Amino acid sequence: MPDTAAFLEVTDLTAGYRRGLPILHGVSMAVNTGEIVTVIGPNGAGKSTLIKAVAGLVIVEGGSINLGSKDLIGVAPDRLGSFGLSYVPQTANIFTTLSVAQNLALAARRCRSEPEVRIAAMLDLFPALAERRAVRGSGLSGGQRQVLAIAMALIAQPRIILMDEPTAGLSPRASQDVLELIGKIASDGVSVLLVEQNARMALGVSDRAYILADGQNQMDGPAADILDDPAVAEIYLGGRRKGAA
Ligand SMILES: Nc1ncnc2c1ncn2[C@@H]1O[C@H](COP(=O)(O)OP(=O)(O)OP(=O)(O)O)[C@@H](O)[C@H]1O
Ligand SMILES: [Mg+2]
Repeated sequence: MPDTAAFLEVTDLTAGYRRGLPILHGVSMAVNTGEIVTVIGPNGAGKSTLIKAVAGLVIVEGGSINLGSKDLIGVAPDRLGSFGLSYVPQTANIFTTLSVAQNLALAARRCRSEPEVRIAAMLDLFPALAERRAVRGSGLSGGQRQVLAIAMALIAQPRIILMDEPTAGLSPRASQDVLELIGKIASDGVSVLLVEQNARMALGVSDRAYILADGQNQMDGPAADILDDPAVAEIYLGGRRKGAA
């Protein structure tokens, strides 16, 4: 029963942190099955607020959020896993005082299948984590922490992952590795909703993109078109691409 319609569909969303003071003003967006969709936009545009709205963490005052045939509004954040949705916050996304294995074990408590089997699957998939299974989160590099956070999200076998700036603070090399990992996740059929400051790199692995500013949709389209649009490059991508005419 494949979903022919958008898998995640946000329509005319009004949401924020206090009633009557919305940050998002009628935002609409969609993620189809197996797609990587990136949301870009200036600081304070409402990108994280959009992801948090889907994750059930802010106040929704209008519009709809549907995942397949399910209405997500009002669903408690800790129940979203059972709907096939995982969320990787930008910060505090692992427990730094616990080991890699302990972090995975905590995440595995939400699994429907045998936790040990899922932990073993993640250690197989990520050899760098397997080598460091006894290392505390605080002893990992920034890139390794993000891989652990992503593994903690994947362990429950989600159908969609929301990621808020997974490359923030990483070296260009580690950022590229994380984005390649995201590409691999999507090629396995998992949908990805990505917010990124590292817009050019993120657009390079994305299918489609949305630009938000002031809590409103500004533009959307295929990621390649957004990357090639000179006005977008000037305003949102920090100037023209190096080497471009
Ligand atoms: N917890 C909060 N309580 C009240 N207002 C908030 C809260 N978090 C964010 N805001 C406000 O909501 C607006 C949008 O913030 P948001 O974090 O969604 O932006 P963003 O696009 O993710 O920006 P950045 O690129 O800096 O991460 C900003 O004006 C911000 O000050
Ligand atoms: Mg943000």
